[in-house]
Amino acid sequence: MKKVIIDVDTGIDDAIGLCLAVQSGQADIVGITTVNGNTSLEQATVNTTKVMKLLGREDVAIVKGANRPLLRDPHFEVSVHGNDGIGGALKEMEIVVNEDGFAPDFIIEQAAKYKGELTIILLAPMTNMALAIRKEPRLKDWVKELVIMGGAVSSPGNITPTAEYNIFIDPEAAKIVLHAGIPITLVGLDVTRQTLLTEADIERMNAGAVRDFVQESTTHYMNRHFQLTGNRACAMHDPLAVGVALDKSLVRTELHYVDVETKSDLCDGQTVCDFKGWLKKEPNVNVCVEVDRDRFIETLVDTLGR
Ligand code: RIB
Ligand code: CA
Repeated sequence: MKKVIIDVDTGIDDAIGLCLAVQSGQADIVGITTVNGNTSLEQATVNTTKVMKLLGREDVAIVKGANRPLLRDPHFEVSVHGNDGIGGALKEMEIVVNEDGFAPDFIIEQAAKYKGELTIILLAPMTNMALAIRKEPRLKDWVKELVIMGGAVSSPGNITPTAEYNIFIDPEAAKIVLHAGIPITLVGLDVTRQTLLTEADIERMNAGAVRDFVQESTTHYMNRHFQLTGNRACAMHDPLAVGVALDKSLVRTELHYVDVETKSDLCDGQTVCDFKGWLKKEPNVNVCVEVDRDRFIETLVDTLGR
């Protein structure tokens, strides 16, 4: 079992990523931290609590974090995730939300407790991780690795021509995290856009509450994807990052220097990958450049149907 903390702005694909992590049986989920992003911190925490109740894992700690980016204004992605962040699914579910603790402190506590063992999977704007790093610089020695859903190094952005959403919402936080000295695998749009879940894939899942959730929550997401591409499918951005954290053989990576633009009107939030070494800076990121799309989708369909 791999000890993990999963940082989320639940969101539809965050929710499916949590389903994959829990149902894989390969993740020892030390806790889940929430942050504003796709939706508000409050709503992301409600959604996360609902999904973990759906999965029968109300035992897992859920700890709230930042309610806004370090410097920028929040920017919720209603068009993709719906007003409630999970496409209107689980509306009737009754839950109790944990109000105790603060995500950056939780990350520090668990990293100190599990020195060298902890993989932190970042599926949202990286405000919580940046705050934790600034408060406890020794995290670079304690955290085993970061697996980050974010960025786009050889393909267009999904919120501006050059920026991916998680980076764009808090580029200052992303810059802090990318340069913290912790081993990083970056699962960017270059590979996540290839891992599209279709309605036919969902039909192939064994019937059950999780398939019903995936079906209901992704309807909104697929409608949006259809508007943009004419194709009824949804990109499994966050689930792929979870998949990679559990099985690196799903992707091919290259080690390069990656930085984040934070001072540009045109390219704010762009992840710039120095493939040719022009900047002569120490490489800091294992960039995902290829993915075994079929094997990942088959694993996802099989696992969510368990
Ligand atoms: O760009 C995709 C990322 O932004 C995903 O994490 C999605 O949930 C949104 O947060
Ligand atoms: Ca997310």
